[in-house]
Amino acid sequence: MFYHRSVSTSHRGKFITFEGLDGTGKSTQIEKLAKALRARGQAVVVTREPGGTETGEKIRQVILHSGTTGLASMAEMALMFASRAQHIQEVILPALSQGKIVLCDRFTDSTEAYQGSGRKLGSKPVLELHRILCDDLQPDLTLLMDSDLRTSVERARRRNLAKTSKPGTSHKDENRFEQENRAFFGRVRHGYLTIARREPSRVAVIDARGTPSQTHTKVMDVVIRKLRLRSGS
Ligand code: TYD
Repeated sequence: MFYHRSVSTSHRGKFITFEGLDGTGKSTQIEKLAKALRARGQAVVVTREPGGTETGEKIRQVILHSGTTGLASMAEMALMFASRAQHIQEVILPALSQGKIVLCDRFTDSTEAYQGSGRKLGSKPVLELHRILCDDLQPDLTLLMDSDLRTSVERARRRNLAKTSKPGTSHKDENRFEQENRAFFGRVRHGYLTIARREPSRVAVIDARGTPSQTHTKVMDVVIRKLRLRSGS
């Protein structure tokens, strides 16, 4: 083990994760929150999964590329955790031990929702792997962006297709999950809401159906309360 429970519980920074279906506006909200926290003088690190490190970004390409066909669900879950273990060691724990606020786009709740519920692997293997490979590192706060299923999935599809077909870009294909059907995303959303009910003190469900700035106001309210920041300061 490279890191131990004592490191993760004695850290001085704050670990905030963003979760939700594809296309719920997570990235916009992370950017807005990072800007607001930096304006208050906080040191903020923004990162994402799968990815966040050089090795993790390579793993991300394999997992998300629509050319990756026939990937076994267990292999998919293992790759998510491979990226995460690297990310924790290389980025998350060092930043937390320096007292920074880490804003992470997706973490283990994504694996529980997508692989556990979506791919029907169940929560148990996900939570066990998290304990073994991630030393059970828990976010201080998780913001679950909840929106209408159809709107968010359609938005994610449009966005990824636009990214793939844009001339002059690197034709980055991250479409593999967008090809899943409605039933899959229905299970993912149900998985997320089950986690939120199980861990209400960690997970805040944010209604993400309004405008980005309305959603940002809701996010700030929760973050200020949870991190005990002074409002408006
Ligand atoms: P992301 O880039 O956050 O997608 P989006 O911006 O569309 O929300 O995540 C990429 C995809 O990877 C997304 O479809 C969810 C999936 N994923 C899992 O299935 N399991 C995981 O553990 C993680 C971190 C992501």
